[in-house]
Parts: sequence; C-alpha cells; structure tokens
Amino acid sequence: MAEPSTETIARIVAGTPVSMLIGGLDTGKTTVALEAVRLALASGKRPVLVDADVGNSTVGPPACVSLKVFRTPSDLDRLDEADDLHFVGTILPSRLVLQQVIATSVMAQKAREMGDVVIIDTTAVASGVAGETLKYHKTELCRPERIIALQRGEEMEPVVGMLRRFLGVEVITAPTDPAILPMSPDARARKRAEGFARALRHPLDRWKVRPTVFAPTLPVGLQLTRLDGVLVGVQSGGGSCLGLGVLSFEDDTLRVMTNVGEGMTGLRLGSMRLDIDSYQLQMLNLREVMFGV
Ligand SMILES: Nc1ncnc2c1ncn2[C@@H]1O[C@H](COP(=O)(O)OP(=O)(O)O)[C@@H](O)[C@H]1O
Ligand SMILES: [Mg+2]
Repeated sequence: MAEPSTETIARIVAGTPVSMLIGGLDTGKTTVALEAVRLALASGKRPVLVDADVGNSTVGPPACVSLKVFRTPSDLDRLDEADDLHFVGTILPSRLVLQQVIATSVMAQKAREMGDVVIIDTTAVASGVAGETLKYHKTELCRPERIIALQRGEEMEPVVGMLRRFLGVEVITAPTDPAILPMSPDARARKRAEGFARALRHPLDRWKVRPTVFAPTLPVGLQLTRLDGVLVGVQSGGGSCLGLGVLSFEDDTLRVMTNVGEGMTGLRLGSMRLDIDSYQLQMLNLREVMFGV
C-alpha cells in the first residue's frame, strides 16, 4: 500500500473522535493537526486541539499542556490564546513525565466534552526510555482511536510496534513531507521566548505570597531566596491553571510576578528558573532546590 499523503492523514484525523500525533522534531505534526482543524471546521464539526508539546508550544505558553476549541476558521489566527491550561513546569519532554501524562490526559478529557474532534499534538521525544514511556502512558490515559506516527525513514517503528502490541491501538505511519525544512535550534529558542513573553507580558503585577501556598509544600526552614526566579503555575481552585508566574525574593519578601493573580489560590512549583527579561532558562531539580541534595 502507498504511504498516505499529509492531506490524506489530515482527512483521517478530521474524521476521528480522538487522535494523537507523534513524531520527531519537524516531522509535520502541527501542520497536520492544523490542517485537520480546517477540514473538521469545513465539515461543520467542532475540533479541539490539545497541545502537549511543552517545549514547542503552538497553543498557550510553553511548560504547559494547553487546549483550544475552534468554533470558526478565524480561531486559527489566535492560536496562542488557549481556552484552558494545565501546568507541567518544564519545557523538557524527558523530564516530569508524570506531570506531562496527567496534564495531557486531563486536557484530553476536557476536550472530549468541549468538541467532537479531539487532536492531541505531542512532543518530539518519542524514542528512548523517556520518550516511549511518555507515549505509552499518554496513549493509555487519553485512549485515542487512532495514532498518527510521522517519520523520516523508519525511526518511529519501535514505539509504533510497542503501542500496537501493548495497547491495541490503531497506528498509521506516514512519511514526513520532504518539503519541510527543519527549524534551527536558535529559531526554536526564539519562538519559545516569544511564547513566554506573551504569557508574562510586562508590566507584571507583583503579589506578595505566603510560603504556605505552594504545591509541593515547602520544607520548614527553607531559605526563600532559593525560590528566586522559579517558574510557577498560578492555580485557582478546582485544579485549573490561570497562567504562568515567576517568583521573586527581594527585601525579605517572597512575591509572584504574574498577569493572572486575580483569583489565585495556590502556586505549583516548576522545575526551571526563567529570567523575565531575557527569557533565559535554567533547569532545576526541585528536590535539590528544597533540600540541597
Ligand atoms: N509542506 C511543507 N512545506 C514546507 N514547509 C513546511 C511544510 N509543512 C510544514 N512546514 C514547515 O516545517 C516546520 C515543521 O513543521 P511542524 O508541523 O511544525 O512540525 P512538528 O510539529 O512535527 O515539529 C514548520 O515551520 C512548518 O511551517
Ligand atoms: Mg509541533
């Protein structure tokens, strides 16, 4: 059988209740997802995109899994505006696998309730222990009817074989469109910085915070200066994430810098520091930050 074209794949996705797109960097996952959104809208459906690509976000800010409902084609012009968010706390697909799987599953569940075609776009890490674990558990919890694996050569065959063998899910493989030119690491980092800049637009409000509002809980006696610059998810009750914030510790006072402080009930600690002027990142291990080990 001939390998299906991008157009054919997008048509299949547009006609499937829940599909998940997997593949390496620049294999065309997001392009197929957006084409499927257009096709689904054209046939009178209400597509919902779940963007689980925490490092290369299309919908919503990086370090989150975001969801967008498409009611009209003009919603495609406002991709960065998410309808719902779930904080993960890292931009590295191989870190915080539990948080990524849970966030994707929660967003996929909400997406099923908000529309009739759910498209889950995922991170580029699909091989190795972390990548396969991530894909395995995302599939297990999101229960897509179809997985589309986009690949150069046969690079996705191991993960595809595993998903078919263990989870009995239908996986369709397709080659990456040869016209795709891979994005340079610099361009990718710029795009990510723009995503953070949109989510943390200056001027930021500075809310004083008590050390008791965090998840996970801060250990007694923690030097709060260690939290300076840490990325947080600003949470409201009921588990939803209002947006991003960055902690600051100055003049003996802990504050969160954010645009979404209204209605916040708690802060989820991320595993990175973010400089709010340069958007430079530093990856962290929370256990190290809290206990120095
Ligand atoms: N048919 C195509 N011709 C040329 N460039 C393309 C084509 N399809 C996608 N691209 C570009 O290639 C890049 C990677 O595609 P994308 O869908 O974002 O991949 P992924 O989501 O798998 O990382 C994007 O910049 C996109 O605009
Ligand atoms: Mg993408």
